Amino acid sequence: MNKAKLLVVDDDRDLLDSVVMILEEEGYEVTAASGGKEALERLRLGSYDVVMSDIKMPGISGLELIQEIKAAGIETPIILMTAFVEVKTTIEAIRRNAFDFIIKPYDPQDLILAVEKAVRFNRLTMMEKDYRSSLEVTVEQRTRELNNALIIVKDLNNELLRRLTAAAECRDTDTASHLTRIGLYCRRLSEALGMSADFVDDIAFASALHDIGKIGIADGILLKPAALTKEEFEIMKSHAKIGGCMLKGSSNAKIMMAATVALRHHERWDGSGYPDGLSGEQIPLCARIVIICDQYDALMMKRPYKAPLGHGKTYEIITTGDGRTIPQHFDPEILEAFKRVALDFVDIFHSYQD
Ligand SMILES: [Fe+2]
Ligand SMILES: [Fe+2]
Repeated sequence: MNKAKLLVVDDDRDLLDSVVMILEEEGYEVTAASGGKEALERLRLGSYDVVMSDIKMPGISGLELIQEIKAAGIETPIILMTAFVEVKTTIEAIRRNAFDFIIKPYDPQDLILAVEKAVRFNRLTMMEKDYRSSLEVTVEQRTRELNNALIIVKDLNNELLRRLTAAAECRDTDTASHLTRIGLYCRRLSEALGMSADFVDDIAFASALHDIGKIGIADGILLKPAALTKEEFEIMKSHAKIGGCMLKGSSNAKIMMAATVALRHHERWDGSGYPDGLSGEQIPLCARIVIICDQYDALMMKRPYKAPLGHGKTYEIITTGDGRTIPQHFDPEILEAFKRVALDFVDIFHSYQD
């Protein structure tokens, strides 16, 4: 262990010399100061393990010295040396954070014991301080590592979603822009219905996976350039159940909604949809929103077997029907909201093309 450094302050030169001598003999590195002013100067230039000071000194007194030292933020323990026992002075000294006091004329053994105690106390204080600051560094480092890990997990999440939707696109005639537009229509329509911000975010995510189940449909049917036979159409319809199966069982709100949307996006308000012919409010709200958005985009889109209809005709079919699509397929309240924001739908359609 390093030699402890002590600063001894006394205006009485003889006493000062004797204290310095006793402590140096004990192996301490001792610096002497003949008054408060000199002591403060020494403390400004270097650090000490313990300060010992006389109470009564011309100029800056021992009590004032304590005050100055504490004000400077120096935590070194201070031992006061006094020639007479004065209860008032002692109380005042303790109140001002003196570590200890000794009474002159002192027994060298008492002096040495008081110094040893103060040195030990100072070393413990320093160790605790070091430990606390190294703990703070560790906590800071761990927090940084945790944040980085979170960013990686988030990126991974997003990438998996992109790859999952891309897998569905590869197996379907639907394009990436169709999925982007569905997400935006659903967002707009949900806002018009006064849904919460969380719901709006969830449906924007979930709607992109509505046809994920098409992964499980054979190419011969999925990519058939002609109309499907009755049997083929039955197989095609199974994409809803396949998608629902793929996504069910998650505890994540977005994926839970995606599972519902995949399973229910062909159910119709009047009960004529599939896979279960649910009607009215039996159909989850998110699916009732997705079906109208999906229908709008399907009618607007150019397909190998059909020309794009344009907004006017599409709007007319959804709101008044054309025999195949009828307004009774849709939740009346959602249909009203669609009418209010239909012009935003045209904008989205034209802004997001492949
Ligand atoms: Fe579908
Ligand atoms: Fe679709």
